Amino acid sequence: MRYDTPMDQRNIILIGPMGSGKSTIGNIMAKRLNREFQDSDHYIEERTGVDIARIFDIEGEEGFRERESNALRDLLGRNNRVIATGGGSVLRAENQKLLKQKGYIVFLDTSVNQQMQRLRRDKKRPLLQTDNPRERLEKLFDERRPIYLDLADLAIKTDKRVARRLAADIINRLPDNLK
Ligand code: S3P
Repeated sequence: MRYDTPMDQRNIILIGPMGSGKSTIGNIMAKRLNREFQDSDHYIEERTGVDIARIFDIEGEEGFRERESNALRDLLGRNNRVIATGGGSVLRAENQKLLKQKGYIVFLDTSVNQQMQRLRRDKKRPLLQTDNPRERLEKLFDERRPIYLDLADLAIKTDKRVARRLAADIINRLPDNLK
């Protein structure tokens, strides 16, 4: 495979479902690796001045996905970052191509049970505001896990693990020139 960025400056990109800990772990990793941390949902909220739920309300999921693709293009326009993506950012073919081109991809592989524990009381995620969030998470798991696995340079199970340990473990497993 050919990369257009020197290996040691490539972004480290965290992918995985809602509640897998992408933001928490990304933040810790960025500090330890002395890299800038960016979170695509936060970036979108800052740029628009409203939260994700409001964007879904006004523009629907398609409108949000458009903003998400633009955010990824912006964030991946620079190197040397740790980037936490939204759970659905792997859906569009154009995003998949960009993610692969612009970074080393780490998949946080999380069970639906663990997601449920973390997201039980969540009010911020539009896709979970349904009568049966577990069923929704299971459906998303079945649809998206194969995509996460296909894109991942490194896949790591997150269940029953403390964020700091997990971040340290991921760093250990990164290629030497990214540490
Ligand atoms: C989504 C995940 C969310 C956010 C939006 C849609 C998804 O991000 O982008 O609510 O489609 O899985 P997190 O994965 O950070 O929760």
